[in-house]
Amino acid sequence: MLEIGAGTGTYTDVFVRAGAHVEVGEPSSAMRAHLSRRARSDRWSSVHIADGSLPADLRVGTDFAAVLAVGVLNYLPELAPSFTTMARILRKDGVIIMNVPTAERSAGDRYRRIELLGRRRVYCRDRDDVEAAARQAGLRLDDGPVRAGVTDVYLLRPRAW
Ligand SMILES: C[S@@+](CC[C@H](N)C(=O)[O-])C[C@H]1O[C@@H](n2cnc3c(N)ncnc32)[C@H](O)[C@@H]1O
Repeated sequence: MLEIGAGTGTYTDVFVRAGAHVEVGEPSSAMRAHLSRRARSDRWSSVHIADGSLPADLRVGTDFAAVLAVGVLNYLPELAPSFTTMARILRKDGVIIMNVPTAERSAGDRYRRIELLGRRRVYCRDRDDVEAAARQAGLRLDDGPVRAGVTDVYLLRPRAW
């Protein structure tokens, strides 16, 4: 599987322990250094860490069974280019698991306002936004929104599957 924006590796660890081979695309050198240290200390033998930033192509393999992007799409003004990048490297029976700040509930707007105090612009999305961007990328919305704090989680799959 591919994990985009793994941060400190909370989910990486979960998937490694479940037996997955995890490639990570992570733009922050500080986070990559942290992940590399963690890979050594926690004996992650099945993790490969690379530089990479959406919406550009990531320096990773292809044919992933699963692509995970948690807390990554919050600051990107458009979803479709990132979905297109993910769709390109997804297996035809694969799944994308991603979340976005919610525009379905007031919690998303509160989060957006708090982020503005730190001069960061967050983009809140509803189901229609995610579905339209997925369609542009040749994907279909398979499930979601599923509530997760100030975000909603969605599952996307290749349209033909
Ligand atoms: C809020 S953290 C989430 C970390 C992890 N996914 C989690 O949920 O614990 C966001 C992560 O996404 C990375 N990131 C930010 N912008 C990105 C982009 N355009 N493409 C890929 N990763 C990005 C950050 O460096 C950071 O590691």
